[in-house]
Amino acid sequence: MCGIVGYVGPKDATPIIINGLKRLEYRGYDSAGVAVINNGQIDVRRDAGKLQQLVDLLGKSPLTGAPGIGHTRWATHGAPSARNAHPHVGNTGKMVVVHNGIVENFLELKEELGAEGVIFNSDTDTETIVHLAEHNKAAGISFEEAARRTFKQIEGANVVLLLSTDEPDKIIAARIGNAGGIVVGLGEGENYLASDIPAILEHTRRMIFLESRQMVVLTKDSFRIETIDGEEVKPEIHTIAFDAVSAEKGEYRHFMQKEIHEQVRALTDTLAGRVDFKEGRIRLPELNLTPELAKRIQRIYITACGTAAYAGMVGKYLIEKIARIPVEVVIGSEFRYSDPIVDENTVVLAISQSGETADTLAAMEEGRKKGGIVWSIVNAIGSQAMRVADGYISMQTGPEIGVASTKAFTAPLVDQYMLAILLADLRGVIDEKTRRELVSDLRLVPDLAGRVMDSEADVEKVAHALKDIKGCLYLGRGINMPIAYEGALKLKEISYIHAEGYPAGEMKHGPIALIDEEMPVLCITPKDPWHEKMISQIQQAKARGGMVIAVATEGDDLVKNMADHVLWVPEAPWMLSPIITVLPLQMLAYHIATIRGLDVDQPRNLAKSVTVE
Ligand code: M6R
Repeated sequence: MCGIVGYVGPKDATPIIINGLKRLEYRGYDSAGVAVINNGQIDVRRDAGKLQQLVDLLGKSPLTGAPGIGHTRWATHGAPSARNAHPHVGNTGKMVVVHNGIVENFLELKEELGAEGVIFNSDTDTETIVHLAEHNKAAGISFEEAARRTFKQIEGANVVLLLSTDEPDKIIAARIGNAGGIVVGLGEGENYLASDIPAILEHTRRMIFLESRQMVVLTKDSFRIETIDGEEVKPEIHTIAFDAVSAEKGEYRHFMQKEIHEQVRALTDTLAGRVDFKEGRIRLPELNLTPELAKRIQRIYITACGTAAYAGMVGKYLIEKIARIPVEVVIGSEFRYSDPIVDENTVVLAISQSGETADTLAAMEEGRKKGGIVWSIVNAIGSQAMRVADGYISMQTGPEIGVASTKAFTAPLVDQYMLAILLADLRGVIDEKTRRELVSDLRLVPDLAGRVMDSEADVEKVAHALKDIKGCLYLGRGINMPIAYEGALKLKEISYIHAEGYPAGEMKHGPIALIDEEMPVLCITPKDPWHEKMISQIQQAKARGGMVIAVATEGDDLVKNMADHVLWVPEAPWMLSPIITVLPLQMLAYHIATIRGLDVDQPRNLAKSVTVE
């Protein structure tokens, strides 16, 4: 979960950056580094491991000067090592970069730059940014123009900070897509940048949050924000309250809203250290999965409660489709009462945000008692579900505070997709081409999620139209069927409106009787293999006078012409589409609840972790 801090001002940048990075340690990381401009030269210290190792290195070999940029890295492209740690310096030694996100087109860029004789000194996608910036600068343009061109050329969701010795008084930064945030902190005669507020809150409370496709040119006395296409931006300056909770909420009204938006970063972090895009392979070391074990597995039970169980239903599709292992999803509270058929070749896979849900833990215990292989996908580090498992996948999303689970739904979808690929690979049921394609698709996820975040204002308009509904049917098919359940759960738990998720094909067997002009129907209709079936579902609902709200793929005119309201999502590979289709439903529930004036973060009767049966 990369952390970023930048400083421009009269003081030495390094202590400010190190302090800031310490405050971002909770995000997790596996290497760290700092770069400053000192007497017109770029000077870098970086190392693998914890910040203390970097601090020790700085003790032996101090770094003075400013401006400076620092970084804590979660490995995505290339192993955690000093060589791959940020900052990365270009071949001319005149520019340096730190970065959070994934440069989706880095292989193409690397090839082009390599053909021009650029030497790469790491395995990272990040390094292409600095070489590209230097390449652009070589055309004789300003640092700002070179940076802008670079930001336009890199694809994906990325946050980038650049320094150049040609213009040593400034840091140029951009947020492209939504790879987590970047905040500009405004001081007196000094300015700051950070990926999260706590990193710089001790220095200033006046902050600006960069939006997607915005860049800032920051000197000690000035800031200028523009879009990367050159349009002027008049930013809002926020004054952050100095208490920890408000600081954590940042620019958002509620934790739920913050956590919805954080999913872009959480999804990036979910991939970090696990996906080798170059080799097209997945690594899940904490799962302790050997080829022998993978080949032995004959059945998987996924067990979980609430939102986590719906994530498991998507996982069933993924594991059965990719790894060809039969999967059954049993909700946690039923597992131990259903006398499940578990033996030493059966996996019991628990999914839990808190890792402390009593019913899920009881299901794990049952699996253990019956001699099964017990795995978990867990968010809370060190929780019981993590401790008692034979192997686990950590969600890497950071703490989830809002009672309505959001990022702890999408992260396990990615985790299960990765698990399915790994199982398929180890069992030898997947050819190399398919494996590489499936792995490669993962790089699209953060950016696609970020594009949905950009549509929040449109979702809010639909929320206003629906604020007084008495109930709602959510319909989906195939891999998006569990998204109907999850969308309905989100609405009911925070807005107290009755909502029912249903497999669309089951409508005609009863629930269709409910549809009239009083009962809106929400149809999850992305361009997936069940698209046509869902279209006929919309037609049936319309024929009965129902109001239809559709989640649809951008450009789908068929849906546009039929539905009363459309929540648009970008086109995604179908196996990854649930990660994207659920996002507008989280936002819709959130906005309906806030319009109704409800306590979104702590809805009535609900607890964040249910530690009783
Ligand atoms: O901590 P867990 O993931 O085990 O919690 C499971 C459910 O209690 C939880 O997902 C619940 O359904 C949420 N309120 C849903 O938003």
